[in-house]
Amino acid sequence: MTPRVDPCRRRLLQAGVALGAAVLLPPAAAQTPLLTRPVPSTGIRLPLVGLGTNRFRFGDDAWLARLGETLAAFIRFGGQVVDTAPAYGDSEAVIGSLMAADALRERLFLATKVGREGAREGRKSLADSYVALRTPRLDLVQLHNLRGVSTVLPVLREQKAAGHIGHIGITSSSYRQYAEMEAIMRRERLDFIQVDYAVGNRGAGARLLPLAAERGMAVLVNLPFGRGAQFRAVGERPLPDWAAEIDCSSWAQVFLKYVVSHPAVTCAIPGSTQAAHVADNLGAARGRLPDTALRQEIARYFDAITDS
Ligand SMILES: NC(=O)c1ccc[n+]([C@@H]2O[C@H](COP(=O)([O-])OP(=O)(O)OC[C@H]3O[C@@H](n4cnc5c(N)ncnc54)[C@H](OP(=O)(O)O)[C@@H]3O)[C@@H](O)[C@H]2O)c1
Repeated sequence: MTPRVDPCRRRLLQAGVALGAAVLLPPAAAQTPLLTRPVPSTGIRLPLVGLGTNRFRFGDDAWLARLGETLAAFIRFGGQVVDTAPAYGDSEAVIGSLMAADALRERLFLATKVGREGAREGRKSLADSYVALRTPRLDLVQLHNLRGVSTVLPVLREQKAAGHIGHIGITSSSYRQYAEMEAIMRRERLDFIQVDYAVGNRGAGARLLPLAAERGMAVLVNLPFGRGAQFRAVGERPLPDWAAEIDCSSWAQVFLKYVVSHPAVTCAIPGSTQAAHVADNLGAARGRLPDTALRQEIARYFDAITDS
C-alpha cells in the first residue's frame, strides 16, 4: 500500500521530532491523571475530554508544525480520544503521518467515520481510512450523520467481529436528525453515539442523552463550544465566582465541564489546532465537576448573556 501522504512526509517528520521530544518531557500538570468514564459495552475507560480534528489539513511547514505540536500537547497532557473523518479533507492522512512519525498509534483511541451509502462504498471508505491512518485497527467507526444504517452498519459489524474495529456508532450534529437518531438507537445495538451538546445548545439533553444511558451507549459530544460561538458570546467577561468551585481557569473549561458533568456523556471532543487550547481543554478533565444545581446556574448565566 502506498501512503497518500508521502510528498509531505519530510515536513511531517520534522513536526514529529518535536512531538517525540514533547512526549518524553511531561510537565507537572500532566502527571495528574485525567478523569475517565467507562464505555458501557466494553468497560474501557476514556478521558472526559478528547480532540476533534475537522480542521487538520495539509498546509505549509508552519501549519504542519502547529498541528504536530497540537497533537503532541494532547498526548503530553494525557489525551486519548481523537475524532476524525474522511469528510474532513486530509485530516486522516495528517493524523496517520503524525502517528507514524512517532509510533503514537497505541497511545490514542482513534475514532473515524464512514459517510457513504452502500456496502461496497462503505467497505471502500473503510479501506481508505486504514491506509490514511496507517493502522490495521480502528477503535471506533461511526456512521457519519446517520448515513448507511441499513447498508454500512452490517459492514461495520462484520469488521468488528473480525477484530478490525473496536466499537461502532452513529453521529449527528443537527437537531433535525434527532428523531431519526432516537429511532436508530432504539432499534440497533451500538457502542457509541456522537451528538452536539453544549451549554448554548442543550437539545440533546432532553431525550438522546438519557436514552444513550438507558441503552448502554457511550456518548461523544461534538460542537461543545458551538463551533467557537460560545467564546464570542462571553467575550471579555471575567469568570463568575462559581468557576473556582469547579476548578475552572478559563471559559473553555467551564463550557467543557458543563458538557462532561452530564452523567450520560463519556467524552467531549472540542476541535482545536492550537497546543495551548488543547492543554486548556484537557484541564476540564481534572478537578471538581459541577453538580446539578451548579449546572443549572451555568445554563442560567449563559442564557442571560445570550438573551440580552
Ligand atoms: N456530524 C458529525 O459527526 C460532526 C459534526 C461536527 C463536528 N464533529 C466533530 O466534533 C469536533 C468539534 O467540533 P468543532 O471543532 O466544529 O467545534 P467546537 O469544538 O465547538 O469549536 C471549535 C472552535 O473552538 C476553538 N477552541 C478550541 N479550544 C479553545 C480554547 N481552549 N479557547 C478558545 N477557543 C478554543 C477552536 O479554535 P482553535 O483551532 O484556534 O483552537 C475552534 O475555532 C470536530 O472537530 C469533529 O471531530 C462531528
